[in-house]
Amino acid sequence: MKKTLLFLSIVALCCQNTFAQKETTVISIKNTENTPTINKNIYGHFAEHLGRCIYGGFFVGDTSKIPNTAGVRNDIIAALKDLKIPNLRWPGGCFADTYHWKDGIGPKENRPTIVNKWWGGVTEDNSFGTHDFLNMCELLGAEPYLSGNVGSGTVQELSDWVQYTNFSGKSPMSDLRKKNGRTEPWKVKYWGIGNEAWGCGGNMTAEYYAGEYRKFATFISDWENTGGITRIASGSNSADYNWTEVLMKNIPLNMLGGVGVHHYAVINWNKKGDGVNYTEEQYFKTMKSALKMEELVTKHSAIMDKYDPQKKVAMIVDEWGGWYEVVNGTNPGFLYQQNTMRDAVLAGSTLNIFNNHADRVRMANLAQCVNVLQAVILTDKTKMILTPTYHIMKMYSVHQDAKLLPVSFQSPLYTVNGETLPAISASASKDKNGAVHISLVNVDAKNNNKIELDVNELGIKNVTGTIITSAKLQDYNSFETPNKIVPTVFKDFANKKGKLEINIPPFSVIMLEGK
Ligand code: AHR
Repeated sequence: MKKTLLFLSIVALCCQNTFAQKETTVISIKNTENTPTINKNIYGHFAEHLGRCIYGGFFVGDTSKIPNTAGVRNDIIAALKDLKIPNLRWPGGCFADTYHWKDGIGPKENRPTIVNKWWGGVTEDNSFGTHDFLNMCELLGAEPYLSGNVGSGTVQELSDWVQYTNFSGKSPMSDLRKKNGRTEPWKVKYWGIGNEAWGCGGNMTAEYYAGEYRKFATFISDWENTGGITRIASGSNSADYNWTEVLMKNIPLNMLGGVGVHHYAVINWNKKGDGVNYTEEQYFKTMKSALKMEELVTKHSAIMDKYDPQKKVAMIVDEWGGWYEVVNGTNPGFLYQQNTMRDAVLAGSTLNIFNNHADRVRMANLAQCVNVLQAVILTDKTKMILTPTYHIMKMYSVHQDAKLLPVSFQSPLYTVNGETLPAISASASKDKNGAVHISLVNVDAKNNNKIELDVNELGIKNVTGTIITSAKLQDYNSFETPNKIVPTVFKDFANKKGKLEINIPPFSVIMLEGK
């Protein structure tokens, strides 16, 4: 009898659990006018002198057999243009605080070398410098975001860089630029005042850095006096809220265009786990770390709100993404990792978080663009492939500069080993042509989820869908099978009198378009 009762209670528990997973999640989307625009710069990228990101990635040199424009691979340029890349951060990362820009201008054969202290200790020839980067940004149609050297550089050096890139009148630096072949200034808008000042950027305290920032920012002015420069403070390491507090308190708002935040989704810094051969438990831990972005953005925003209630200063998440062990046999300092469906789910969920916080988060930079960490592009000699993360970024590009539509729902839970995470992530926007886009992620690795969307209020008549998913969570695009994971048409939904009933498969990302 006891055994029967125990059996029945186990069955009841299991059923409850099954029902909980299968219950329909009702998502309501408000069609309000009074919402922020999702800044296209949330979809920004990052290119550091690290491993094969610049040399052997973007830049192959103009004598390479690989088709290129001034040494930059044409296939990469085309892929990033297709992605509508809005901005690109360079030259670091940690590298930025070791970089002396004057070593990367003028005839290439005369340029001194630099030892990349942080990333593999390799010697670089400085053949990719300011002109190469800024001209590349022009080709891409992307705004450059230059990270200045505060840790080992001087105020003079950084202010000279601004004059070199931005001044159209006569000056020592604009003359030098012209001598090096560029008449018109590039007018670089985004300037980082150091990187990770709490760590590789100089191991500074928040108070010390705030003082350094004020000094540097004073001289990092717009040489044309048009107010066209956005100065960005090196932000906190994940949940270091004190860092944001000290910066907001001590830096006058008129000197501060943005405050950074860096957060990587990592299982454990000492045991990061393989990029491909991971268990569901490891997947869960990565997603737990990735979804922490919601709390980080919320709490850093609350601090910024205290000092800047009008939200003049942008939060700039200038490094984010998944960080795993490097691919076996590659240089540990090069941070080359594979990119699976886990990365697709991670990217989709994180971008939803940024979209939903568009009032404060106005720029973000995925780390990194090519061959490093959660890259959108991987190269192997002449070959180039697009990762699942690339396809997510492209699918989500419809949100760029669209009006945020607030979503509200109670997410079902994704449970592993008794720990839970919200299984569903969503965001929505309306573009300038009136098309509504709804991005949905099912984080749950095992169960599909049913969603009901009330689209009546949105005035939508026709809905189409695109999905990124695969047979296995660990699937990825390789150089042999580059199109294993690509967006496909999604049809598993029905429009029942203005209520859209959607069945979203495990570990998948969907974009619905309503017109
Ligand atoms: O993206 C790799 C490194 O991570 C960057 O150089 C640094 O800023 C961060 O710690």
